[in-house]
Amino acid sequence: MEVKKENSRTGIGDGREGVHAAVGDFFLANVKSGLALDGYIPVTGKIIEQDDLHAMVEACLDMWLTAGRFAKQFERELAQKVGARWSRMTVSGSAANLLSFAALTSPSLGKRAVRPGDEVITVAAGFPTTVSPIVQHGCVPVFVDVDLQTHNVLVDQVSSAVTSKTRAIVLAHTLGNPFDLDSISEICRKHDLFLIEDSCDALGATYDGRPVGTFGDLSTLSFYPAHHICTGEGGAVFSSKPQFMKIVESLRDWGRDCWCDPGKDNTCKKRFEWQLGDLPEGYDHKYIYSHLGYNLKATDIQAALGLSQLQKLDRFVTSRRENHNYLDQQIKLRGLNEFFLTPEATAKSDPSWFGYLLTVRENVPLSRRELVKSLEEKGIGTRQLFAGNLIRQPAFKGVDYRVPFELKNTDHVMASSFWLGVWPGLTKLHLDRILDSLESVVRNSLDKNRSLKR
Ligand SMILES: Cc1ncc(COP(=O)(O)O)c(C=O)c1O
Repeated sequence: MEVKKENSRTGIGDGREGVHAAVGDFFLANVKSGLALDGYIPVTGKIIEQDDLHAMVEACLDMWLTAGRFAKQFERELAQKVGARWSRMTVSGSAANLLSFAALTSPSLGKRAVRPGDEVITVAAGFPTTVSPIVQHGCVPVFVDVDLQTHNVLVDQVSSAVTSKTRAIVLAHTLGNPFDLDSISEICRKHDLFLIEDSCDALGATYDGRPVGTFGDLSTLSFYPAHHICTGEGGAVFSSKPQFMKIVESLRDWGRDCWCDPGKDNTCKKRFEWQLGDLPEGYDHKYIYSHLGYNLKATDIQAALGLSQLQKLDRFVTSRRENHNYLDQQIKLRGLNEFFLTPEATAKSDPSWFGYLLTVRENVPLSRRELVKSLEEKGIGTRQLFAGNLIRQPAFKGVDYRVPFELKNTDHVMASSFWLGVWPGLTKLHLDRILDSLESVVRNSLDKNRSLKR
């Protein structure tokens, strides 16, 4: 982090070093390192270290507040890290998904633009805001089923679901496990479809040695505290297609045609020379709108935190992978895989795990509801695969969607899956407590359910 020694406007020393010294003392005196072993073990969590706090304070001391020097640097470094030509920060992963889908509908795409009534192939086993932008733009989500061990889309069903109305595929890399990018990219090429990769849960994952998010037209990230890096609230869109950068930026920044950074004017050097739409010639370009947009810009404080978190991403991803492997090994060593389907990395991929998902096998007398209730009572955090099966959610009543095949596995996931934490705040000791608790609730539950049957 660059600590400014001088006030950038006055050139006079502004005492930042003193503030940072006090902040350092505050951190050391007040912030506990490490999660207690005997308390509640949350399923996700953020790791905020001293340099992260200094970064946020530095952005506060700038008093710029809206997107500024930190946002610029974060967007540049994030793009480099994910192997994309550009990235744009926004307020959340959901906003990133909204901006990405909205970009596909931009009038500037001409005949290629996605229009109301067009179909978009996706899955129902996942997070709602991967799919809601499709519905919000009047398009029709087409839900296909998922595999029970990668929790990703069944590629054969995607091929069969394509019709003359299909215009795009929108899929998430479920819990950090990449979907089959070779096959999905090939389907997109064959049928001229757009692809949005929701990589919100998968920062750091690779497929065939390439970072996820670099295969599709646009990709998204979330920096909510549960995610691989944290900015409080936050997210990003990234891509290597320059055309989409202009569209995403416009949609994010009120829909404007102007691309000046906040606080800057006349970057185009012809601010009063434009003639667009039915506006009078020379109408101020700062107030010309080429999209029906939003304001979904993040602050420089969020960006400063993102920048310092980004330097730790490799460490965080390594720790998530190690924790996932340890849970996997131990669950198999303890014979618990007799009762559960365990997760499998997609072929050619190196996942950046978000969680460890277990699915009660068919005909095993274990109730997911009982298991997660007992685990929570023992202080072990659990989560379900987000919305389970989206079409069974109240929000989807009355929504126009298509389901070409039975969502059998999606329903099984909704009824029988849950996941355990792998976030970097968990040590082997926490994982052992999770495993011991899991083993004890499984064995107790089996004993109880079997004796009830007798
Ligand atoms: C796959 C996926 N997409 C999108 C989101 C939304 O991200 P946010 O909470 O930052 O809006 C999430 C949230 O966890 C997610 O898991």
